[in-house]
Amino acid sequence: MILVTGGCGFIGSNFVLDWLAQSSESVVNVDALTYAANPATLASVAADSRYAFERADITDRAAIDAIIAKYQPRAIVHFAAESHVDRSIHGPMDFVRTNMLGTATLLESARAHWKSMSPEAATSFRFVHVSTDEVFGSLGPTDPKFHELSQYQPNSPYSASKAGSDHLARAYFHTYGMPVMVTNCSNNYGPRQFPEKLIPLMIVNAIAGKALPIYGDGQQIRDWLYVSDHCSAIRRVLESGRAGEMYLIGGDAERANLDVVHTICAALAKFRPGADYTKQITYVTDRPGHDRRYAIDFSKIERELGWRPSESFTTGLEKTVRWYLDNDAWVKDVQSGDYKTWMERNYGARA
Ligand code: NAD
Ligand code: TYD
Repeated sequence: MILVTGGCGFIGSNFVLDWLAQSSESVVNVDALTYAANPATLASVAADSRYAFERADITDRAAIDAIIAKYQPRAIVHFAAESHVDRSIHGPMDFVRTNMLGTATLLESARAHWKSMSPEAATSFRFVHVSTDEVFGSLGPTDPKFHELSQYQPNSPYSASKAGSDHLARAYFHTYGMPVMVTNCSNNYGPRQFPEKLIPLMIVNAIAGKALPIYGDGQQIRDWLYVSDHCSAIRRVLESGRAGEMYLIGGDAERANLDVVHTICAALAKFRPGADYTKQITYVTDRPGHDRRYAIDFSKIERELGWRPSESFTTGLEKTVRWYLDNDAWVKDVQSGDYKTWMERNYGARA
């Protein structure tokens, strides 16, 4: 079986659902169930004998050791992280704890497991560390896209803590020979994303008749990838990636934030006509240290592993808008916890 961490979050839950739909192999999901998790997301597979859930914090070495000893995974796919840039600006220490200390703890536990394996099992063991393009910093308008040799220049506590975790993962290959691979992906969107990130926030606010808050001038560019394409890329890396390598993953879909919000408004006007959602667009104070542009050159994974995105931004965004329209109960569920406090904290003080 394989072990995933953070499987109750956005990308992890999509990965677990896709895995169980496409593979006969079992998966154990280790998640601490922070505010970003919704265990109900995986209710459809809770009774599947190939699925197991263990609630644990990745900084807890004894708990992780016990889970690994119990399930003896042949591979680990590490999604668990604190993942929201704005939250990292308000409170960096949670990011350092989970992303750096948590990854270090998981790597140590995985190393002990890997050392205890037979030589054949140890050779085929894989640890995939899932990371972000934000570790490379910000691009100018005409700069070439990020690639595997781009310099690490993280600008936010989130990206700095992910950069630290990437370096640890890399060091475990170079120092111990543990078969680790790092993937760095651009911004994901799709079903089951917590509505504090740009795309789901704009969808749920638009439907609720609330403001659509654009930071600064809205001309910051992200390279958007539909989440199931990210999951298929990780499966390719797990199956055929070379140990010790890093693979960049992107959507070939650079869009300015303001264009993204206009596209969401147009999709909503199509599926739920009757309002001009663009009237809800509001410009608010910019995020401090806001990265201007991210873009990914994914030619390495395309060349070596035959992966490229299958969804265009137009089709992916329409699917996403439809999912949020059809899953109001899921949205209400994740908005119940500390969501209101967060919205007040992040947006209340913005002019
Ligand atoms: P998310 O915030 O939606 O989910 C994170 C999950 O990790 C949650 O279920 C949470 O409960 C769990 N978690 C957090 N701290 C934990 C801890 N200490 N121990 C155990 N579990 C813990 O995040 P996501 O958007 O699904 O991102 C998953 C991974 O992909 C992250 O590593 C992130 O850096 C990376 N990534 C995300 C994007 C994106 O656009 N969302 C893009 C590229 C890379
Ligand atoms: P986000 O979804 O937080 O992802 P990231 O910061 O990791 O790229 O934000 C995506 C872009 O949208 C980013 O440039 C910030 C911007 N943004 C807004 O303009 N308004 C908002 O309310 C949010 C949450 C984000």
